Amino acid sequence: MHTSAFQHIKHNAVYLPFHILPEELPNLLSSLKTLNVKGVNVTVPYKEKIIDHLDWVSPQASALGSVNTLIFEDEIWKGYTTDGNGFVRSLEAEGVCLKGSDILLVGAGGSARSIAVALLEKEISSLTIINRTQKKAEALANLLSSIAPNIEFYTQTSETTKFNILINTTSVGMLDTAIPVENDLIKKSDVIVDIIYNPPMTPLLKTAHSMGKKTLNGLGMLLYQGVDAFEIWTKTNAPVEVMKESLSKSLGLVKN
Ligand code: ATR
Repeated sequence: MHTSAFQHIKHNAVYLPFHILPEELPNLLSSLKTLNVKGVNVTVPYKEKIIDHLDWVSPQASALGSVNTLIFEDEIWKGYTTDGNGFVRSLEAEGVCLKGSDILLVGAGGSARSIAVALLEKEISSLTIINRTQKKAEALANLLSSIAPNIEFYTQTSETTKFNILINTTSVGMLDTAIPVENDLIKKSDVIVDIIYNPPMTPLLKTAHSMGKKTLNGLGMLLYQGVDAFEIWTKTNAPVEVMKESLSKSLGLVKN
């Protein structure tokens, strides 16, 4: 999707994958600089480890302790995180209003953290985090409440609570037929989002759809984390439709 977007705006660049070994990390950025590489995406398992090698890290990435987008600018390497912003932008693109909303976040791993930190900047009303391992949900809620004291945080649901948005960040439903929450919680939520994009309709989304709920899968997050990175690199509005089409083609969702 990036190379298509570069071509579209007539920017002389390509996007290439590189397989990096742990022992190569210390010399990686100076090698990339020599090769005149200007922008980089970093993925698992280096999103945290690369930080030690950067000259500057954005406040959001710093709060998260994780980066996924680098730019070589003003002779220094800068690190950003676009996963959470990408998620938020994908919801906004679908007309989902975040301001004043009550959100149920399922999971407390790396994806949940990135999404939660981005949600804090959107004047949400409350965030309930539930997780298989309760202690991790509590640790995440504690971390977030220290950053955003105006937002209410919970780590348990109550009978009366209703949610504007339910977000599944766990891998439950990717390879199995399981649903990560009780049906009752789906009923109590207006919009159901699963950050999984393969399969496009997880058992959670199928169940929510059959209840007449608005459902969104993880394709939007994947697209918009790229859109956000593209805009960091090029300082230009990304051609979102071009990127969306390219992404859909490469995932086999539409014919080439
Ligand atoms: P990611 O970076 O994709 O978020 P992660 O950091 O490993 O991956 O986090 C995975 C999340 O999915 C965790 O919240 C995990 O719950 P635990 O903290 O209890 O491990 C959750 N998860 C993974 N498999 C699960 C399962 N089978 N049932 C319920 N939760 C699961």
